[in-house]
Amino acid sequence: MTKQHSPAALRNRAPITDVLATTLPDSGQVLEVASGSGEHVIHFAGRFPALTWIPSDPAPEARASIAEHLADAGLPNVQSPRAVDVSDPDWPATLDNTGGLQAIVCINMIHIAPWQACLGLFEGAAQLLPRAAPLYLYGPYRRGGGHTSQSNAAFDAQLKQSNPLWGLRDLETVCEEAEARGFTHERTVEMPANNLSVILRRA
Ligand SMILES: C[S@@+](CC[C@H](N)C(=O)[O-])C[C@H]1O[C@@H](n2cnc3c(N)ncnc32)[C@H](O)[C@@H]1O
Repeated sequence: MTKQHSPAALRNRAPITDVLATTLPDSGQVLEVASGSGEHVIHFAGRFPALTWIPSDPAPEARASIAEHLADAGLPNVQSPRAVDVSDPDWPATLDNTGGLQAIVCINMIHIAPWQACLGLFEGAAQLLPRAAPLYLYGPYRRGGGHTSQSNAAFDAQLKQSNPLWGLRDLETVCEEAEARGFTHERTVEMPANNLSVILRRA
């Protein structure tokens, strides 16, 4: 049994879908970076059938899980999972994509990976996305130099204990680094459980 299940993904997928509905284009290819179990991409593909979804994750066990969820769901608009590691500067080439991407979605990755993964995401996404295409980020952030809740502070401490290179990122720094790499910060949407949707667009 390789299929993974994420209770958090089941909780947050509906509110994320609501934001994606006002963010994604009507058609084209959407890359999901750090797909994890694959439950998000299955849900999104069902809600947005005119989009072609490309899941990805560097972890082989995640890709196996995504493939199993895909086999069960039988959706025609999801491609097989790719081994994309955004901390590899050549990741746009490893994606091996022949069509043009119209959007990138990345949920709960930048705080559970070294900072270089966030910068690598922006650098590769800037190469791949056409002008005005969205890069959607979701997760917990620090704002104004501090945590926005006690639960986020506790989560940050727990992440840093697992790996000192992990931890909640400062929203302002994330947006500045994205802007330095060719994106505009379109909007931030407050989400349940002290999370944020951050919508960037290729300038
Ligand atoms: C907390 S899980 C989130 C999974 C899924 N997006 C979700 O919200 O359920 C973090 C994921 O980030 C992936 N990840 C970690 N470092 C990465 C990197 N450098 N490039 C792409 N994905 C990465 C992990 O393999 C893992 O699947």
